[in-house]
Amino acid sequence: MTVTLLKLEKLGSAYGQSRVLWDIDMDIARGDAVALIGRNGVGKTTLLNTITGVHKLTSGKIYLNGNDISASPAHARARAGIGYVPQGRQLFPQLTVQENLTVGLAALAGRKEIKQATIVDHIYDLFPKLTEIRARKAGLLSGGEQQQLAIGRALAGQPKLLLLDEPTEGIQPSVVRQIEHALRRIRAELGMTIMIVEQYLDFAWSFAESYHVMQRGKIIRHGRTAEESSAEIAHLVNI
Ligand SMILES: Nc1ncnc2c1ncn2[C@@H]1O[C@H](COP(=O)(O)OP(=O)(O)O)[C@@H](O)[C@H]1O
Ligand SMILES: [Mg+2]
Repeated sequence: MTVTLLKLEKLGSAYGQSRVLWDIDMDIARGDAVALIGRNGVGKTTLLNTITGVHKLTSGKIYLNGNDISASPAHARARAGIGYVPQGRQLFPQLTVQENLTVGLAALAGRKEIKQATIVDHIYDLFPKLTEIRARKAGLLSGGEQQQLAIGRALAGQPKLLLLDEPTEGIQPSVVRQIEHALRRIRAELGMTIMIVEQYLDFAWSFAESYHVMQRGKIIRHGRTAEESSAEIAHLVNI
């Protein structure tokens, strides 16, 4: 039986007078791995920002576990279980790896049953590289290390739904494979639901079980990756 974790109903979003998202409907099942794909500038980042509450919606509804969170501020959505790895990562460059992870624990506020040390240990286990560089400032890390830290920081809040915006952008292939491996473990070991924005179709198809294609602020196609080849979708995404 599939249970809906995130439901978007006719979601709309704008920058001033300029409308960017149009009547987005989406159902994300608990435990699913979802890829959101589309050309540059179609509204993928705006959609994630609208789901997380970084950007206000202008119409429609967002439900998490059946609860209407459309009017909730970003920190309340984080506490309700939405974790976010934003495009460009947005770490605190002057803080160390360990300190950035500690910031991520803030989303746990009020959930005393969770042992913070256990969570951090699990993150270091998922990303062994971070253990070696735990005392280094985030601003001095390579792109791949920063991406692993950004994912680790989001995981520190123990999200039910993890949103990642172009996690492979500007990262060398060997590190992309490590990140994919870690995301698979996160699904398998924590049962987490994951949605990635991804321009690199091969990665989207090897990781995700379902996909949504966005064009000019609308979802124009969606389905299961096992039932279609990425080649059939490529013309909708490539520039
Ligand atoms: N802060 C902003 N102010 C005004 N327009 C924006 C802003 N951010 C994005 N846009 C515009 O919104 C549209 C969608 O952008 P974005 O969501 O970043 O697309 P994507 O992530 O798919 O590349 C683009 O036309 C972009 O120029
Ligand atoms: Mg973007």
